Amino acid sequence: MKLSKVFGGLVLVASACLLTACGSSDKKDTSVSDIKDKGTMVVALNPEFAPFEFKTLVDGKDTIVGADVKIAEAIGEELGVKVKFSSMSFNNVLASLQSGKADIAISGISATPERKKAYNFSEPYYESENVVLVKKTDLDKYTKTTSLDGLSVGTQKGTIQETVASEQLKGAKVVALTQNGEMINELKNGQIQAVVLEKPIAEGYVANNDDLTISNITLKNDDADAYAVALPKDDDKLTKKVNKVINELKDSGKIDQFVQDAYALSTSDSNN
Ligand code: ARG
Repeated sequence: MKLSKVFGGLVLVASACLLTACGSSDKKDTSVSDIKDKGTMVVALNPEFAPFEFKTLVDGKDTIVGADVKIAEAIGEELGVKVKFSSMSFNNVLASLQSGKADIAISGISATPERKKAYNFSEPYYESENVVLVKKTDLDKYTKTTSLDGLSVGTQKGTIQETVASEQLKGAKVVALTQNGEMINELKNGQIQAVVLEKPIAEGYVANNDDLTISNITLKNDDADAYAVALPKDDDKLTKKVNKVINELKDSGKIDQFVQDAYALSTSDSNN
């Protein structure tokens, strides 16, 4: 065999290793013991998503609260560790699991088949539904998917709503924005004409903004859009622990309660 061939082969193997993190496949799944050793579980989230995660003043201090925060705390309790929340834009949330910056991600994340290729997911804990948020004054103008043809529709960057909007509002110009707050401002001041969001999030914005409403445009939903906790790929031990907590919280009706309580908090006067 020619040397160049051998060398070429080596380069191939080396680059394949870079791409697939080769070598890690035989690493033991120490996810649970690693977190227990650290004493802290780091949770990635984008706290611009009431009632699941948002910031509010608690005793004068800016604090991250919401249904996902409650779920994270229950997981921390099960593992006997402290929980640390790491805020970031949504398009970095899943990647933070790959880079090891976070141990788990709980951020209203839809467990799509595409994402399942790269991450582990818990059992789903919340069924989601997409709606189109518009200005109250436009309610009679935008009544069906084609009403938005040629107009700008906002979605949060990195979310499934980007795909939902481009597939179902085919004639519209889909704009992806990093921050939900900015997206709502653009809707209010007319830079964009509509926003695709999941129902409880849209309802929260409507409750806090007199000039906004949910349109009568119907979008198709997919069972795979339900929220689940995301974990690093193949962290099966941790996934099992998380599933235990999720199933307990679901069966006891606590998740619904968390969502209701957080919704009430996010729409109370102090948060307007
Ligand atoms: N469920 C949607 C998705 O997974 C949106 C999630 C956005 N979450 C957030 N905390 N901003 O793509």
